[in-house]
Amino acid sequence: MSGDFLTVTDLHAGYGDARVLHGVDLAVGRGEICAILGPNGAGKTTLLRALSGMVRVRGGVRLDGTALAGRPPDALARLGVAHVPEGRGTFTPLTVEENLRLGAFTRRDRDGIEADLERVCAYFPVLRARLGQVAGSLSGGEQQMLAIGRALMLRPRLLLLDEPSLGLAPLVTAELFRIVRTVNEQERTTVVVVEQNAHLALDVAHRAHVLESGRIVLSGSAARLRADEQVARSYLGYRV
Ligand SMILES: Nc1ncnc2c1ncn2[C@@H]1O[C@H](COP(=O)(O)OP(=O)(O)OP(=O)(O)O)[C@@H](O)[C@H]1O
Ligand SMILES: [Mg+2]
Repeated sequence: MSGDFLTVTDLHAGYGDARVLHGVDLAVGRGEICAILGPNGAGKTTLLRALSGMVRVRGGVRLDGTALAGRPPDALARLGVAHVPEGRGTFTPLTVEENLRLGAFTRRDRDGIEADLERVCAYFPVLRARLGQVAGSLSGGEQQMLAIGRALMLRPRLLLLDEPSLGLAPLVTAELFRIVRTVNEQERTTVVVVEQNAHLALDVAHRAHVLESGRIVLSGSAARLRADEQVARSYLGYRV
């Protein structure tokens, strides 16, 4: 982990007059998995939207030295920011393969795209077996895998995951997080993951931040946050 890869400084964002983020400061090292924890409505989804250009922002966002704030989503995708939104956002009438190929929309390197299709299928064998199946007929877990697989087809430098475990069985969720960790280890992809399941998030992440009412109230290594009494009380009070 060498220096800060993603830096967020005094970031404000919201919807119209509704202000949601009130000056978020955040730094993520290159190749790190960073977890964002926090209660419902804290602004976690809005933070990811701000990083991928889906909401208007004020403040600084830099990725490997390049200023991102204010750029539209397609420009950010070209700079390597891949966002797997809450609710997955797969194209349900299209096949698994068509969805995966759409993930590479910014790329022109045909050979690289074919190689990455193979690579994604190696990470998610369940998708290889269903390349010709329409995405709408996949199970929830398979759809989440497709959504992450599609994001990987961008060859992201920054992968944003919003609640990947939502609605999934514990075993499927564990498998998903295992794959995210493998991708992170093998490709050094930097990951920011928003996750309600704090146990899982702190297991997979290197560092974590707690967002409450649009502000970061606690930051530290995953180990430190796991040991923090308030985090334990607010976020680790249950086990899956
Ligand atoms: N499209 C929108 N238009 C207006 N307000 C919005 C919109 N999306 C979210 N908000 C508001 O912004 C605030 C933060 O929402 P956000 O979705 O970022 O929270 P969250 O931390 O992701 O919550 P959850 O854990 O429930 O997913 C909430 O008060 C919400 O009502
Ligand atoms: Mg959310």
